[in-house]
Amino acid sequence: MFGIGSTKEKKVALSGVKPTGRPHIGNYFGAMKQFVELQETHENYIFVANYHALIGVQDAQTLAQDTRDVIIDYLAIGIDPEKTTLFIQSDIPEVTELTWIFNTLVTVPYLQRAHAYKDAVAKGKEATVGLFDYPVLMAADILLPNADVVPVGADQKQHVEYARDIAQKFNLTFGETFTVPEPLILKEQGIVLGTDGQKMSKSYNNTIPLFATREEIIKAVMSIVTNSGGEFPQNLFAIHTLFKPEAELKPFYEANISSFKTLKETLIEDLDAFIAPLREKRATIASDTKLVNRVISEGRDKIRPHAQEKMKEIREKVGIL
Ligand code: ADP
Ligand code: TRP
Repeated sequence: MFGIGSTKEKKVALSGVKPTGRPHIGNYFGAMKQFVELQETHENYIFVANYHALIGVQDAQTLAQDTRDVIIDYLAIGIDPEKTTLFIQSDIPEVTELTWIFNTLVTVPYLQRAHAYKDAVAKGKEATVGLFDYPVLMAADILLPNADVVPVGADQKQHVEYARDIAQKFNLTFGETFTVPEPLILKEQGIVLGTDGQKMSKSYNNTIPLFATREEIIKAVMSIVTNSGGEFPQNLFAIHTLFKPEAELKPFYEANISSFKTLKETLIEDLDAFIAPLREKRATIASDTKLVNRVISEGRDKIRPHAQEKMKEIREKVGIL
């Protein structure tokens, strides 16, 4: 078997991140932090899914900047390029080549069952072929480098199932070629709530940015919705427990239940103590253009030869010589 991980000392974990703007603390606790932990236990790969993002972003400068920003964000939270290969999807053109081959195996009714496509249709949107084909591009991302496990949020589980089905169908049709990957569902315990009490999400405008300035922290915390009349501020408390143990916070909240201002001011300080070092590290990395370029090109150079070799094997199997 060609491809990365073929020595199988450690399992290969592959994570894809769509470049869609600034990450928030929900993304951090729900996903990013766990990617950092994986680099100790797995042969770890993280890539920026810029072709996937192109489905929704039609501004060249925004997409290019957001793509680079993901690399900077992950370096800032502790992804170590010595332990994790960081790369950009479009640096591996074999992925889009493989997508075409998979397209010839996958049927239209099968793709019509994908949640993201169904949602778009239900909302009356005219889906592009790109949106329709999203799961197939994602299968190529996963299968080309022989990923064993794919760490994803529960919302992405169906996509990993598509990759599994496509691997099995290809293997059956053309002979054993791809590892059938397993999803590694990220801990659900941590749905982080936003300033309005709903799930924190870029789409709800209720986020606390992971690399927020102090002013942004103050603004976000002050906007956290609390009930009036001395009721326990659940939402504020839930966000606060991400940064301080519950046992320590509970008596403090009970003692200050009549002053949400005091509670919020304390949260601002605790958030800033957590965010400030990350913010500073990010700024240092972002200003080091050479370092960022080097990480991107080293990641590409590390993975591309494997992708090329694997693609050669695939072309031979299907008769594209
Ligand atoms: P958003 O909803 O802000 O657009 P994404 O859908 O891009 O976030 O999510 C990226 C990753 O972060 C996913 O793995 C997702 O499960 C995780 N995530 C996003 N929001 C939260 C949240 N509020 N709590 C926990 N995890 C989250
Ligand atoms: N679809 C994933 C998301 O929206 C991003 C992604 C693209 C991905 N390709 C991938 C994730 C391959 C894991 C593996 O979050």
